[in-house]
Amino acid sequence: MATPKEMRRLVAGNWKMNLDLQAGSDLAKACVDALGSQNIPVVFCAPAIHLHALSGIVNGASNVHVGGQDISSHESGAHTGEISGMQLKSVGCSYVIVGHSERRADHGESGELLAAKVSQALANGLTPIYCFGETLEQREAGDEQKVVALQLQEGLAHLDVEAMNKVVLAYEPVWAIGTGKTASPAQAQAIHKFIRLWLDARFGESTASTTSILYGGSVKPTNANELFNQPDIDGGLIGGASLKPADFVSIVNAY
Ligand code: 13P
Repeated sequence: MATPKEMRRLVAGNWKMNLDLQAGSDLAKACVDALGSQNIPVVFCAPAIHLHALSGIVNGASNVHVGGQDISSHESGAHTGEISGMQLKSVGCSYVIVGHSERRADHGESGELLAAKVSQALANGLTPIYCFGETLEQREAGDEQKVVALQLQEGLAHLDVEAMNKVVLAYEPVWAIGTGKTASPAQAQAIHKFIRLWLDARFGESTASTTSILYGGSVKPTNANELFNQPDIDGGLIGGASLKPADFVSIVNAY
């Protein structure tokens, strides 16, 4: 029987705004070929314009999924440039990132907006990967738990237990994203433990023990194993290293 931690495992690549269609297709094919059949769910969160093609590529691969990087807070209608949950679902997505720090910073996404995006994802049968994390300034001020609790509260507190059980969390300290500076395994574990206690207090013990909490921020083949071995770290949301098939595959295999 799989342990609760084994049940929570997940590794997602966030390609961000990189790769043209050919390069993205080549990357997905190389990863699928190298991963073979494995037990750990893997997600490619690719630019929206590639998602349909990627769904065709991963179709039939065991435990490999496609996800969006953002979702509209609206259901449909006059929202030029936005992509709805129904549209993501219709091109084969099963996951979507919500609240990445780059969207919070570049597009001023508020807690209220993100709560609506989480709800739209769930309403359309997509698993939201809800991202949050403190800046360097906030960590240096010793405010990381306060910031994380507020971001969790804003994006998720409106959900009931059944809905929350369908959400994946990704703790991504802003100071570790794309900087080469990783949170130490002990630093990351401390916050992940805090997140699980927050889940327990708000949604109960069962939700706390089944929710996947990923770590993101300069995860590499050299540090993945130690991070993933922490009791409350259930996998990773991988940026830069997800663009290189060998690195991404070796991170997945670090489990
Ligand atoms: P890096 O792995 O490039 O630091 O990016 C992390 C990230 O933002 C994933 O969403």
